[in-house]
Amino acid sequence: MNQYQKLTEMYSTHPFSASLRSVRHKPYFRSILYSSLVIFSIYFLYKFVHPSTIYTQFKPFAGDLSETYAPADKVAPQVWQDRAKSVKAAFLHGYHGYERYAQPHDELLPLSNGYRNNFNGWGVSMYDSLDTMLLMDLEDEYARAIPFIEKTVFSLPEGQFAPFFETIIRYLGGLLSAYALRKDEVLLRRADELAEKLDHVFATPSGFLYLDGTVVGPEIGILAEIASLQLEYTTLAKFTGKKRWWDRANTVIRALEKANLRDTGGMFPIGWNLSNAQPKDTHLSVGAQADSAHEYLLKQYLLTAKTDKANLEMYLRATTHIITNLLFLSPTRHLLYVTDAQFPTLDHKGRPSHRFEHLSCFLPGLLALGAHTLPLDDLTSVGIDLEHLGTGIYLLAGYNLKTLHMWAAEGLAQTCWLTYADMPTGLGPDEMLMHTVSDLWRETGDSFKEGGYSWMDAISKWKRSGARGAPPGVGDKTPVTLESLYLLWRTTGNSKWRDRGWRIFDSIERNTKTPSGYASLITVEVMPPAKDDDMPSYFFAETLKYLYLMFSDNDPISLDEWVFNTEAHPLPVIRWSQSEKDAFNIP
Ligand SMILES: *[C@@H]1O[C@H](CO)[C@@H](O)[C@H](O)[C@H]1NC(C)=O
Repeated sequence: MNQYQKLTEMYSTHPFSASLRSVRHKPYFRSILYSSLVIFSIYFLYKFVHPSTIYTQFKPFAGDLSETYAPADKVAPQVWQDRAKSVKAAFLHGYHGYERYAQPHDELLPLSNGYRNNFNGWGVSMYDSLDTMLLMDLEDEYARAIPFIEKTVFSLPEGQFAPFFETIIRYLGGLLSAYALRKDEVLLRRADELAEKLDHVFATPSGFLYLDGTVVGPEIGILAEIASLQLEYTTLAKFTGKKRWWDRANTVIRALEKANLRDTGGMFPIGWNLSNAQPKDTHLSVGAQADSAHEYLLKQYLLTAKTDKANLEMYLRATTHIITNLLFLSPTRHLLYVTDAQFPTLDHKGRPSHRFEHLSCFLPGLLALGAHTLPLDDLTSVGIDLEHLGTGIYLLAGYNLKTLHMWAAEGLAQTCWLTYADMPTGLGPDEMLMHTVSDLWRETGDSFKEGGYSWMDAISKWKRSGARGAPPGVGDKTPVTLESLYLLWRTTGNSKWRDRGWRIFDSIERNTKTPSGYASLITVEVMPPAKDDDMPSYFFAETLKYLYLMFSDNDPISLDEWVFNTEAHPLPVIRWSQSEKDAFNIP
Protein backbone atom coordinates (compact mmCIF):
# COMPACT_ATOMS: atom_id res chain seq x y z
CA MET A 1 0.00 0.00 0.00
CA ASN A 2 1.46 3.35 -0.97
CA GLN A 3 0.68 6.58 0.86
CA TYR A 4 -1.90 7.66 -1.68
CA GLN A 5 -3.94 4.59 -1.06
CA LYS A 6 -4.28 5.65 2.54
CA LEU A 7 -6.29 8.64 1.50
CA THR A 8 -9.62 6.89 1.30
CA GLU A 9 -11.84 5.30 3.84
CA MET A 10 -11.44 1.65 4.72
CA TYR A 11 -14.43 -0.58 4.97
CA SER A 12 -14.60 -4.04 6.32
CA THR A 13 -14.92 -7.13 4.23
CA HIS A 14 -18.70 -6.90 4.48
CA PRO A 15 -18.74 -3.41 3.05
CA PHE A 16 -22.41 -2.85 2.69
CA SER A 17 -23.48 -3.68 6.20
CA ALA A 18 -20.36 -2.13 7.66
CA SER A 19 -20.77 1.09 5.76
CA LEU A 20 -24.39 1.39 6.81
CA ARG A 21 -23.00 1.96 10.24
CA SER A 22 -19.86 3.84 9.47
CA VAL A 23 -20.98 6.22 6.76
CA ARG A 24 -23.09 9.16 7.79
CA HIS A 25 -22.17 9.00 11.40
CA LYS A 26 -22.13 12.09 13.47
CA PRO A 27 -19.97 14.38 11.39
CA TYR A 28 -22.32 13.87 8.54
CA PHE A 29 -25.19 15.49 10.36
CA ARG A 30 -23.96 18.66 8.89
CA SER A 31 -27.13 20.38 7.82
CA ILE A 32 -28.51 20.60 11.28
CA LEU A 33 -26.99 23.37 13.28
CA TYR A 34 -26.29 21.74 16.54
CA SER A 35 -27.96 18.46 16.73
CA SER A 36 -27.96 15.79 19.30
CA LEU A 37 -26.52 12.38 18.67
CA VAL A 38 -29.42 11.03 20.63
CA ILE A 39 -32.05 9.88 18.22
CA PHE A 40 -35.38 10.49 19.71
CA SER A 41 -38.91 10.21 18.53
CA ILE A 42 -41.85 12.48 18.49
CA TYR A 43 -45.09 10.66 18.68
CA PHE A 44 -47.78 12.35 16.68
CA LEU A 45 -50.40 9.73 16.99
CA TYR A 46 -53.28 9.52 19.46
CA LYS A 47 -52.39 5.89 19.96
CA PHE A 48 -49.18 6.75 21.73
CA VAL A 49 -49.53 10.25 23.04
CA HIS A 50 -52.62 12.38 23.08
CA PRO A 51 -52.02 15.47 20.97
CA SER A 52 -52.58 17.78 23.91
CA THR A 53 -49.69 16.10 25.68
CA ILE A 54 -47.47 16.82 22.75
CA TYR A 55 -48.18 20.48 22.94
CA THR A 56 -47.47 20.57 26.66
CA GLN A 57 -44.37 18.52 26.31
CA PHE A 58 -42.92 20.35 23.38
CA LYS A 59 -43.80 23.96 23.96
CA PRO A 60 -42.56 26.21 21.25
CA PHE A 61 -39.36 27.97 22.14
CA ALA A 62 -39.92 30.68 24.76
CA GLY A 63 -43.63 29.96 24.37
CA ASP A 64 -44.18 33.43 23.02
CA LEU A 65 -42.43 33.67 19.71
CA SER A 66 -44.91 36.20 18.43
CA GLU A 67 -44.14 38.58 21.26
CA THR A 68 -40.41 38.06 21.20
CA TYR A 69 -40.06 38.68 17.51
CA ALA A 70 -41.64 41.25 15.30
CA PRO A 71 -42.64 39.84 11.91
CA ALA A 72 -39.82 40.21 9.44
CA ASP A 73 -41.61 42.59 7.13
CA LYS A 74 -42.17 44.98 10.04
CA VAL A 75 -38.48 45.04 10.85
CA ALA A 76 -36.57 48.12 9.70
CA PRO A 77 -33.87 47.52 7.05
CA GLN A 78 -31.23 48.75 9.48
CA VAL A 79 -32.17 45.91 11.82
CA TRP A 80 -31.34 43.32 9.12
CA GLN A 81 -27.96 44.94 8.63
CA ASP A 82 -27.36 44.68 12.38
CA ARG A 83 -28.41 41.02 12.28
CA ALA A 84 -25.95 40.31 9.49
CA LYS A 85 -23.30 41.96 11.68
CA SER A 86 -24.28 39.73 14.60
CA VAL A 87 -23.70 36.66 12.40
CA LYS A 88 -20.30 38.02 11.39
CA ALA A 89 -19.47 38.58 15.07
CA ALA A 90 -20.46 34.96 15.78
CA PHE A 91 -18.17 33.77 12.98
CA LEU A 92 -15.28 35.77 14.44
CA HIS A 93 -15.93 34.48 17.95
CA GLY A 94 -15.88 30.85 16.84
CA TYR A 95 -13.06 31.20 14.34
CA HIS A 96 -10.78 33.10 16.71
CA GLY A 97 -11.36 30.31 19.25
CA TYR A 98 -10.33 27.81 16.57
CA GLU A 99 -7.23 29.83 15.66
CA ARG A 100 -6.19 30.22 19.28
CA TYR A 101 -6.66 26.65 20.50
CA ALA A 102 -6.95 24.29 17.54
CA GLN A 103 -5.20 25.54 14.39
CA PRO A 104 -3.85 23.84 12.31
CA HIS A 105 -5.86 20.80 13.43
CA ASP A 106 -9.37 20.02 12.20
CA GLU A 107 -11.82 21.27 14.79
CA LEU A 108 -11.93 23.10 18.10
CA LEU A 109 -13.40 21.41 21.15
CA PRO A 110 -15.29 24.43 22.43
CA LEU A 111 -15.73 23.31 26.05
CA SER A 112 -12.25 21.96 26.84
CA ASN A 113 -10.34 24.21 24.39
CA GLY A 114 -8.74 21.11 22.95
CA TYR A 115 -8.76 20.04 19.30
CA ARG A 116 -9.71 17.06 17.22
CA ASN A 117 -8.51 15.60 13.93
CA ASN A 118 -11.63 13.98 12.56
CA PHE A 119 -11.24 14.85 8.85
CA ASN A 120 -7.67 13.91 7.96
CA GLY A 121 -6.09 16.45 10.32
CA TRP A 122 -5.38 18.94 7.53
CA GLY A 123 -7.27 21.81 9.18
CA VAL A 124 -10.79 21.28 7.88
CA SER A 125 -12.22 24.25 9.80
CA MET A 126 -9.88 26.56 7.87
CA TYR A 127 -10.67 25.06 4.46
CA ASP A 128 -14.37 25.15 5.19
CA SER A 129 -14.15 28.81 6.26
CA LEU A 130 -12.21 30.45 3.40
CA ASP A 131 -15.11 31.47 1.19
CA THR A 132 -17.22 32.57 4.15
CA MET A 133 -14.37 34.88 5.19
CA LEU A 134 -14.21 36.36 1.70
CA LEU A 135 -17.97 36.88 1.61
CA MET A 136 -17.83 38.56 5.02
CA ASP A 137 -14.82 40.75 4.07
CA LEU A 138 -12.68 39.18 6.79
CA GLU A 139 -9.36 39.91 5.10
CA ASP A 140 -7.16 39.45 8.17
CA GLU A 141 -8.48 35.99 8.97
CA TYR A 142 -8.19 34.98 5.31
CA ALA A 143 -4.61 36.26 5.10
CA ARG A 144 -3.66 34.35 8.24
CA ALA A 145 -5.13 31.09 6.86
CA ILE A 146 -3.31 31.13 3.51
CA PRO A 147 0.18 30.20 4.80
CA PHE A 148 -1.37 27.14 6.52
CA ILE A 149 -3.16 26.16 3.31
CA GLU A 150 0.10 26.50 1.46
CA LYS A 151 1.89 24.17 3.89
CA THR A 152 -0.69 21.41 4.36
CA VAL A 153 0.74 17.98 3.65
CA PHE A 154 -2.02 15.88 2.10
CA SER A 155 -1.02 12.58 3.59
CA LEU A 156 -2.09 10.38 6.48
CA PRO A 157 -0.39 8.14 8.99
CA GLU A 158 -0.08 4.48 8.13
CA GLY A 159 -3.42 2.69 8.47
CA GLN A 160 -5.64 5.78 8.26
CA PHE A 161 -7.92 6.62 5.35
CA ALA A 162 -9.49 9.83 4.12
CA PRO A 163 -13.28 9.78 3.90
CA PHE A 164 -13.69 10.58 0.20
CA PHE A 165 -17.07 12.28 0.28
CA GLU A 166 -16.24 14.57 3.20
CA THR A 167 -12.82 15.37 1.75
CA ILE A 168 -14.37 16.41 -1.55
CA ILE A 169 -17.22 18.51 -0.26
CA ARG A 170 -15.25 20.24 2.50
CA TYR A 171 -11.62 20.53 1.32
CA LEU A 172 -11.94 20.51 -2.46
CA GLY A 173 -15.24 22.44 -2.39
CA GLY A 174 -13.78 24.99 0.01
CA LEU A 175 -10.65 25.57 -2.07
CA LEU A 176 -12.54 25.89 -5.36
CA SER A 177 -15.12 28.25 -3.97
CA ALA A 178 -12.51 30.50 -2.39
CA TYR A 179 -10.59 30.43 -5.70
CA ALA A 180 -13.71 31.50 -7.57
CA LEU A 181 -14.09 34.46 -5.23
CA ARG A 182 -10.42 35.40 -5.03
CA LYS A 183 -8.09 34.17 -7.72
CA ASP A 184 -5.20 33.24 -5.41
CA GLU A 185 -3.20 30.67 -7.38
CA VAL A 186 -2.26 28.72 -4.28
CA LEU A 187 -5.91 27.72 -3.79
CA LEU A 188 -6.18 26.14 -7.21
CA ARG A 189 -2.79 24.49 -6.98
CA ARG A 190 -3.75 22.84 -3.71
CA ALA A 191 -7.12 21.74 -5.13
CA ASP A 192 -5.40 20.12 -8.09
CA GLU A 193 -2.84 18.40 -5.84
CA LEU A 194 -5.54 17.08 -3.55
CA ALA A 195 -7.50 15.61 -6.47
CA GLU A 196 -4.30 13.95 -7.74
CA LYS A 197 -3.76 12.30 -4.39
CA LEU A 198 -7.29 10.95 -4.26
CA ASP A 199 -7.44 9.87 -7.87
CA HIS A 200 -6.62 6.19 -7.46
CA VAL A 201 -10.10 5.59 -6.02
CA PHE A 202 -11.63 5.73 -9.50
CA ALA A 203 -9.92 2.55 -10.66
CA THR A 204 -13.15 0.53 -10.81
CA PRO A 205 -14.55 -1.15 -13.89
CA SER A 206 -17.45 1.32 -13.81
CA GLY A 207 -15.50 4.49 -13.00
CA PHE A 208 -17.47 4.82 -9.78
CA LEU A 209 -15.10 5.27 -6.91
CA TYR A 210 -13.96 2.52 -4.63
CA LEU A 211 -14.36 3.42 -1.03
CA ASP A 212 -11.32 1.67 0.28
CA GLY A 213 -8.88 2.86 -2.27
CA THR A 214 -7.66 -0.51 -3.44
CA VAL A 215 -8.33 -2.14 -6.75
CA VAL A 216 -9.86 -5.07 -4.97
CA GLY A 217 -12.21 -2.88 -2.92
CA PRO A 218 -15.78 -3.61 -1.96
CA GLU A 219 -18.11 -4.38 -4.81
CA ILE A 220 -20.97 -2.34 -3.41
CA GLY A 221 -21.01 1.44 -3.20
CA ILE A 222 -23.27 3.96 -1.48
CA LEU A 223 -25.22 6.41 -3.65
CA ALA A 224 -24.26 9.59 -1.81
CA GLU A 225 -20.57 8.63 -1.96
CA ILE A 226 -20.44 7.78 -5.65
CA ALA A 227 -22.64 10.59 -6.94
CA SER A 228 -21.74 13.71 -4.98
CA LEU A 229 -18.57 14.83 -6.72
CA GLN A 230 -19.81 16.14 -10.07
CA LEU A 231 -19.93 19.83 -9.11
CA GLU A 232 -16.45 19.87 -7.63
CA TYR A 233 -14.74 17.87 -10.40
CA THR A 234 -16.47 19.83 -13.17
CA THR A 235 -15.37 23.08 -11.56
CA LEU A 236 -11.84 21.77 -11.11
CA ALA A 237 -11.77 20.84 -14.81
CA LYS A 238 -12.92 24.31 -15.78
CA PHE A 239 -10.33 26.04 -13.60
CA THR A 240 -7.39 23.80 -14.46
CA GLY A 241 -8.28 22.98 -18.05
CA LYS A 242 -7.59 19.31 -17.33
CA LYS A 243 -9.77 16.82 -19.13
CA ARG A 244 -9.17 14.10 -16.54
CA TRP A 245 -11.22 16.00 -13.92
CA TRP A 246 -14.12 16.42 -16.32
CA ASP A 247 -13.92 12.71 -17.11
CA ARG A 248 -14.31 11.83 -13.42
CA ALA A 249 -17.55 13.82 -13.19
CA ASN A 250 -18.82 12.81 -16.61
CA THR A 251 -18.29 9.10 -16.00
CA VAL A 252 -20.59 9.30 -12.99
CA ILE A 253 -23.25 11.24 -14.86
CA ARG A 254 -23.23 8.91 -17.89
CA ALA A 255 -23.35 5.82 -15.68
CA LEU A 256 -26.30 7.16 -13.70
CA GLU A 257 -28.02 8.01 -16.96
CA LYS A 258 -27.69 4.43 -18.19
CA ALA A 259 -28.65 2.74 -14.94
CA ASN A 260 -31.64 0.48 -15.06
CA LEU A 261 -34.23 1.98 -12.72
CA ARG A 262 -37.16 -0.20 -13.65
CA ASP A 263 -37.05 -1.86 -10.25
CA THR A 264 -36.88 1.42 -8.34
CA GLY A 265 -39.56 3.61 -9.91
CA GLY A 266 -37.12 5.98 -11.63
CA MET A 267 -35.32 6.86 -8.43
CA PHE A 268 -31.75 5.93 -7.50
CA PRO A 269 -31.57 3.47 -4.62
CA ILE A 270 -28.82 3.57 -2.00
CA GLY A 271 -26.75 0.47 -2.91
CA TRP A 272 -24.82 0.21 -6.22
CA ASN A 273 -22.68 -2.48 -7.82
CA LEU A 274 -19.34 -0.84 -8.58
CA SER A 275 -18.46 -3.32 -11.27
CA ASN A 276 -21.39 -2.82 -13.59
CA ALA A 277 -22.73 0.55 -12.33
CA GLN A 278 -26.20 -0.85 -11.73
CA PRO A 279 -28.45 -0.57 -8.67
CA LYS A 280 -27.90 -3.29 -6.12
CA ASP A 281 -30.84 -2.74 -3.79
CA THR A 282 -34.26 -1.08 -3.78
CA HIS A 283 -33.92 1.15 -0.74
CA LEU A 284 -35.20 4.62 -1.67
CA SER A 285 -34.33 7.59 0.52
CA VAL A 286 -33.55 11.27 0.44
CA GLY A 287 -31.86 11.07 3.84
CA ALA A 288 -28.57 9.58 4.98
CA GLN A 289 -26.52 7.80 2.26
CA ALA A 290 -28.60 9.27 -0.52
CA ASP A 291 -29.34 12.96 0.02
CA SER A 292 -26.69 14.87 -1.92
CA ALA A 293 -26.88 12.54 -4.95
CA HIS A 294 -30.40 13.80 -5.64
CA GLU A 295 -29.26 17.34 -4.90
CA TYR A 296 -26.38 17.12 -7.41
CA LEU A 297 -28.69 16.13 -10.27
CA LEU A 298 -30.37 19.53 -10.28
CA LYS A 299 -27.25 21.41 -9.25
CA GLN A 300 -25.06 19.87 -11.98
CA TYR A 301 -27.67 20.90 -14.55
CA LEU A 302 -27.58 24.44 -13.18
CA LEU A 303 -23.77 24.49 -12.85
CA THR A 304 -23.35 23.66 -16.53
CA ALA A 305 -25.66 26.52 -17.52
CA LYS A 306 -28.59 24.14 -18.09
CA THR A 307 -26.87 22.28 -20.91
CA ASP A 308 -26.61 18.65 -19.79
CA LYS A 309 -30.22 17.56 -20.11
CA ALA A 310 -29.66 14.07 -18.70
CA ASN A 311 -29.18 15.57 -15.25
CA LEU A 312 -32.49 17.38 -15.52
CA GLU A 313 -34.31 14.23 -16.62
CA MET A 314 -32.87 12.27 -13.71
CA TYR A 315 -33.87 15.05 -11.32
CA LEU A 316 -37.43 15.05 -12.63
CA ARG A 317 -37.74 11.26 -12.36
CA ALA A 318 -36.44 11.30 -8.81
CA THR A 319 -38.60 14.15 -7.60
CA THR A 320 -41.65 12.66 -9.27
CA HIS A 321 -41.18 9.44 -7.36
CA ILE A 322 -40.53 11.33 -4.14
CA ILE A 323 -43.61 13.51 -4.48
CA THR A 324 -45.94 10.70 -5.44
CA ASN A 325 -44.65 7.92 -3.18
CA LEU A 326 -42.45 9.16 -0.35
CA LEU A 327 -44.37 12.17 0.95
CA PHE A 328 -46.77 11.55 3.80
CA LEU A 329 -49.10 13.62 5.91
CA SER A 330 -49.22 13.11 9.67
CA PRO A 331 -52.72 12.51 11.04
CA THR A 332 -53.04 15.13 13.77
CA ARG A 333 -51.10 18.21 12.83
CA HIS A 334 -51.07 17.45 9.10
CA LEU A 335 -47.33 17.72 8.92
CA LEU A 336 -45.96 16.95 5.50
CA TYR A 337 -42.83 14.82 5.69
CA VAL A 338 -40.62 12.69 3.49
CA THR A 339 -39.51 9.22 4.49
CA ASP A 340 -37.63 6.23 3.11
CA ALA A 341 -39.02 2.95 1.81
CA GLN A 342 -38.20 -0.11 -0.22
CA PHE A 343 -39.51 -0.27 -3.77
CA PRO A 344 -42.27 -0.96 -4.66
CA THR A 345 -43.58 1.98 -2.72
CA LEU A 346 -47.11 1.94 -4.09
CA ASP A 347 -49.77 0.85 -1.63
CA HIS A 348 -47.25 0.96 1.22
CA LYS A 349 -45.80 -2.34 0.00
CA GLY A 350 -42.32 -0.97 0.49
CA ARG A 351 -42.95 -0.53 4.22
CA PRO A 352 -42.15 3.16 4.60
CA SER A 353 -40.15 3.67 7.81
CA HIS A 354 -41.86 6.96 8.68
CA ARG A 355 -38.55 8.21 9.92
CA PHE A 356 -38.14 11.85 8.99
CA GLU A 357 -34.44 12.66 9.07
CA HIS A 358 -33.21 16.16 9.57
CA LEU A 359 -30.87 15.49 6.68
CA SER A 360 -33.94 15.37 4.46
CA CYS A 361 -34.60 19.00 5.27
CA PHE A 362 -32.41 19.98 2.30
CA LEU A 363 -35.24 18.75 0.08
CA PRO A 364 -37.60 21.72 0.44
CA GLY A 365 -34.74 24.05 -0.48
CA LEU A 366 -33.89 21.89 -3.49
CA LEU A 367 -37.50 21.76 -4.68
CA ALA A 368 -37.79 25.54 -4.28
CA LEU A 369 -34.54 26.04 -6.21
CA GLY A 370 -35.86 23.77 -8.98
CA ALA A 371 -39.21 25.51 -9.10
CA HIS A 372 -37.39 28.84 -9.30
CA THR A 373 -34.87 27.92 -12.00
CA LEU A 374 -36.64 25.35 -14.20
CA PRO A 375 -39.55 25.82 -16.61
CA LEU A 376 -41.48 23.14 -14.75
CA ASP A 377 -44.77 24.23 -16.24
CA ASP A 378 -43.39 24.13 -19.77
CA LEU A 379 -40.82 21.36 -19.92
CA THR A 380 -41.26 20.85 -23.63
CA SER A 381 -39.49 24.19 -24.04
CA VAL A 382 -36.31 22.48 -22.86
CA GLY A 383 -36.96 19.35 -24.86
CA ILE A 384 -38.31 17.18 -22.07
CA ASP A 385 -41.10 14.79 -22.86
CA LEU A 386 -42.78 14.07 -19.56
CA GLU A 387 -44.42 10.93 -20.77
CA HIS A 388 -41.04 9.35 -21.19
CA LEU A 389 -39.86 10.06 -17.69
CA GLY A 390 -40.81 6.70 -16.30
CA THR A 391 -43.20 5.23 -13.82
CA GLY A 392 -45.16 7.55 -11.60
CA ILE A 393 -45.11 10.47 -13.99
CA TYR A 394 -48.55 9.53 -15.26
CA LEU A 395 -49.88 10.57 -11.87
CA LEU A 396 -48.73 14.09 -12.58
CA ALA A 397 -49.27 14.32 -16.31
CA GLY A 398 -51.11 17.48 -17.22
CA TYR A 399 -50.71 19.08 -13.80
CA ASN A 400 -48.74 22.17 -13.05
CA LEU A 401 -45.44 20.84 -11.80
CA LYS A 402 -44.16 24.23 -10.70
CA THR A 403 -47.04 24.68 -8.30
CA LEU A 404 -46.76 21.15 -7.07
CA HIS A 405 -43.03 21.40 -6.39
CA MET A 406 -43.52 24.69 -4.60
CA TRP A 407 -46.30 23.19 -2.47
CA ALA A 408 -44.12 20.28 -1.52
CA ALA A 409 -41.26 22.69 -0.75
CA GLU A 410 -43.40 24.85 1.49
CA GLY A 411 -45.08 21.98 3.26
CA LEU A 412 -41.80 20.19 4.00
CA ALA A 413 -40.12 23.40 5.09
CA GLN A 414 -42.98 24.06 7.47
CA THR A 415 -42.42 20.69 9.08
CA CYS A 416 -38.65 21.19 9.26
CA TRP A 417 -39.16 24.56 10.85
CA LEU A 418 -41.63 23.08 13.27
CA THR A 419 -39.07 20.56 14.49
CA TYR A 420 -37.08 23.59 15.62
CA ALA A 421 -39.99 25.55 17.03
CA ASP A 422 -41.32 22.53 18.92
CA MET A 423 -38.11 22.22 20.91
CA PRO A 424 -37.60 24.22 24.10
CA THR A 425 -34.13 25.07 22.84
CA GLY A 426 -35.45 26.34 19.52
CA LEU A 427 -33.06 23.95 17.75
CA GLY A 428 -34.03 20.85 15.82
CA PRO A 429 -33.35 17.15 16.40
CA ASP A 430 -31.50 14.80 14.02
CA GLU A 431 -34.44 12.59 13.41
CA MET A 432 -38.13 12.26 14.11
CA LEU A 433 -40.07 9.06 13.98
CA MET A 434 -43.68 9.46 12.97
CA HIS A 435 -45.59 6.70 14.70
CA THR A 436 -48.23 6.78 12.30
CA VAL A 437 -51.21 6.01 10.31
CA SER A 438 -50.09 8.76 8.01
CA ASP A 439 -51.50 8.97 4.54
CA LEU A 440 -49.58 9.29 1.34
CA TRP A 441 -49.76 12.99 0.57
CA ARG A 442 -51.26 12.44 -2.85
CA GLU A 443 -53.98 10.25 -1.41
CA THR A 444 -55.11 12.57 1.34
CA GLY A 445 -58.76 12.72 0.70
CA ASP A 446 -61.94 13.90 2.31
CA SER A 447 -60.80 13.46 5.89
CA PHE A 448 -58.45 16.41 5.53
CA LYS A 449 -60.79 18.74 3.85
CA GLU A 450 -61.61 20.95 6.84
CA GLY A 451 -58.41 22.92 6.71
CA GLY A 452 -58.20 23.24 2.96
CA TYR A 453 -58.33 20.94 -0.02
CA SER A 454 -57.16 17.46 -0.59
CA TRP A 455 -54.10 17.23 -2.81
CA MET A 456 -56.07 15.89 -5.75
CA ASP A 457 -58.91 18.34 -5.15
CA ALA A 458 -56.54 21.21 -5.11
CA ILE A 459 -54.73 20.09 -8.22
CA SER A 460 -57.83 19.41 -10.22
CA LYS A 461 -59.34 22.64 -9.03
CA TRP A 462 -56.23 24.45 -10.07
CA LYS A 463 -56.33 22.65 -13.37
CA ARG A 464 -59.93 23.60 -13.96
CA SER A 465 -59.98 27.18 -12.87
CA GLY A 466 -56.56 28.33 -11.90
CA ALA A 467 -57.74 28.67 -8.27
CA ARG A 468 -54.88 28.68 -5.84
CA GLY A 469 -56.18 26.43 -3.07
CA ALA A 470 -53.31 24.64 -1.48
CA PRO A 471 -53.56 21.02 -0.32
CA PRO A 472 -53.15 19.96 3.30
CA GLY A 473 -49.65 20.06 4.61
CA VAL A 474 -48.84 23.31 2.85
CA GLY A 475 -50.48 25.95 5.05
CA ASP A 476 -48.58 28.01 7.54
CA LYS A 477 -47.55 26.21 10.69
CA THR A 478 -45.87 28.19 13.06
CA PRO A 479 -39.83 25.78 11.79
CA VAL A 480 -35.62 23.90 8.07
CA THR A 481 -32.09 23.56 7.24
CA LEU A 482 -30.67 26.93 6.73
CA GLU A 483 -30.15 26.24 3.04
CA SER A 484 -33.84 25.58 2.72
CA LEU A 485 -34.71 28.73 4.68
CA TYR A 486 -32.28 30.73 2.58
CA LEU A 487 -33.56 29.33 -0.73
CA LEU A 488 -37.17 29.83 0.25
CA TRP A 489 -36.40 33.40 1.23
CA ARG A 490 -34.61 33.97 -2.05
CA THR A 491 -37.12 32.19 -4.27
CA THR A 492 -40.35 33.30 -2.62
CA GLY A 493 -39.20 36.67 -1.30
CA ASN A 494 -41.42 35.95 1.68
CA SER A 495 -39.86 37.55 4.69
CA LYS A 496 -41.27 35.01 7.11
CA TRP A 497 -38.43 32.66 6.10
CA ARG A 498 -35.89 35.34 6.85
CA ASP A 499 -37.55 35.92 10.18
CA ARG A 500 -37.32 32.21 10.99
CA GLY A 501 -33.63 32.27 10.11
CA TRP A 502 -33.19 34.99 12.69
CA ARG A 503 -35.01 33.00 15.35
CA ILE A 504 -32.72 30.05 14.76
CA PHE A 505 -29.64 32.26 14.96
CA ASP A 506 -30.95 33.72 18.20
CA SER A 507 -31.38 30.21 19.62
CA ILE A 508 -27.80 29.34 18.63
CA GLU A 509 -26.50 32.46 20.29
CA ARG A 510 -28.43 31.85 23.50
CA ASN A 511 -27.96 28.12 23.84
CA THR A 512 -24.67 27.07 22.27
CA LYS A 513 -22.12 29.86 22.87
CA THR A 514 -19.03 29.07 24.99
CA PRO A 515 -16.08 31.29 25.92
CA SER A 516 -14.12 30.01 22.90
CA GLY A 517 -16.76 29.08 20.33
CA TYR A 518 -20.12 27.38 19.82
CA ALA A 519 -20.96 23.90 21.03
CA SER A 520 -23.22 21.18 19.66
CA LEU A 521 -26.02 20.18 21.98
CA ILE A 522 -26.42 16.74 23.47
CA THR A 523 -30.15 17.15 23.39
CA VAL A 524 -32.46 19.80 22.03
CA GLU A 525 -35.46 18.87 24.12
CA VAL A 526 -34.62 20.16 27.61
CA MET A 527 -33.70 23.57 28.93
CA PRO A 528 -31.04 24.47 29.68
CA PRO A 529 -29.54 22.18 27.08
CA ALA A 530 -26.40 20.19 27.85
CA LYS A 531 -23.52 21.13 25.54
CA ASP A 532 -21.26 18.70 23.71
CA ASP A 533 -17.52 19.36 23.28
CA ASP A 534 -17.86 19.74 19.54
CA MET A 535 -17.84 22.57 16.97
CA PRO A 536 -18.16 21.10 13.49
CA SER A 537 -16.53 22.86 10.55
CA TYR A 538 -19.84 23.12 8.72
CA PHE A 539 -20.86 25.71 11.31
CA PHE A 540 -18.48 28.09 9.46
CA ALA A 541 -19.14 26.74 5.98
CA GLU A 542 -22.90 26.44 6.03
CA THR A 543 -24.74 27.67 9.08
CA LEU A 544 -23.20 31.10 9.40
CA LYS A 545 -22.85 31.62 5.64
CA TYR A 546 -26.50 31.02 4.84
CA LEU A 547 -27.57 33.18 7.78
CA TYR A 548 -25.22 35.97 6.76
CA LEU A 549 -26.35 35.92 3.13
CA MET A 550 -29.99 35.79 4.17
CA PHE A 551 -29.70 38.88 6.36
CA SER A 552 -27.48 40.88 4.01
CA ASP A 553 -29.30 43.36 1.85
CA ASN A 554 -26.96 42.99 -1.06
CA ASP A 555 -26.52 39.26 -1.29
CA PRO A 556 -23.56 38.91 -3.67
CA ILE A 557 -24.49 35.34 -4.61
CA SER A 558 -26.95 35.43 -7.52
CA LEU A 559 -28.74 32.10 -7.80
CA ASP A 560 -28.51 32.42 -11.57
CA GLU A 561 -24.73 32.68 -11.48
CA TRP A 562 -23.72 30.45 -8.55
CA VAL A 563 -24.51 26.94 -7.34
CA PHE A 564 -23.87 25.89 -3.75
CA ASN A 565 -22.22 22.52 -3.24
CA THR A 566 -23.62 20.30 -0.50
CA GLU A 567 -21.30 21.95 2.05
CA ALA A 568 -22.57 25.42 1.04
CA HIS A 569 -19.49 26.37 -0.99
CA PRO A 570 -20.72 28.51 -3.90
CA LEU A 571 -19.30 27.53 -7.32
CA PRO A 572 -19.76 29.72 -10.41
CA VAL A 573 -21.98 28.60 -13.29
CA ILE A 574 -19.84 27.18 -16.09
CA ARG A 575 -20.18 28.06 -19.75
CA TRP A 576 -17.82 25.92 -21.82
CA SER A 577 -15.98 27.61 -24.62
CA GLN A 578 -15.81 25.85 -27.98
CA SER A 579 -12.16 24.99 -27.42
CA GLU A 580 -12.98 23.45 -24.01
CA LYS A 581 -15.80 21.44 -25.58
CA ASP A 582 -13.42 20.17 -28.21
CA ALA A 583 -10.71 19.39 -25.68
CA PHE A 584 -13.05 17.67 -23.23
CA ASN A 585 -15.18 15.98 -25.85
CA ILE A 586 -18.40 17.65 -24.67
CA PRO A 587 -21.21 17.50 -27.26
C1 LIG B 1 -21.71 -6.90 -9.68
O1 LIG B 1 -21.71 -6.99 -11.08
C2 LIG B 1 -20.80 -7.95 -11.60
C3 LIG B 1 -20.78 -7.82 -13.12
O2 LIG B 1 -22.06 -7.90 -13.65
C4 LIG B 1 -21.23 -9.35 -11.11
O3 LIG B 1 -20.34 -10.33 -11.61
C5 LIG B 1 -21.21 -9.35 -9.59
O4 LIG B 1 -21.69 -10.59 -9.09
C6 LIG B 1 -22.07 -8.23 -9.05
N1 LIG B 1 -21.88 -8.14 -7.62
C7 LIG B 1 -22.84 -8.15 -6.74
C8 LIG B 1 -22.45 -8.06 -5.30
O5 LIG B 1 -24.00 -8.20 -7.06
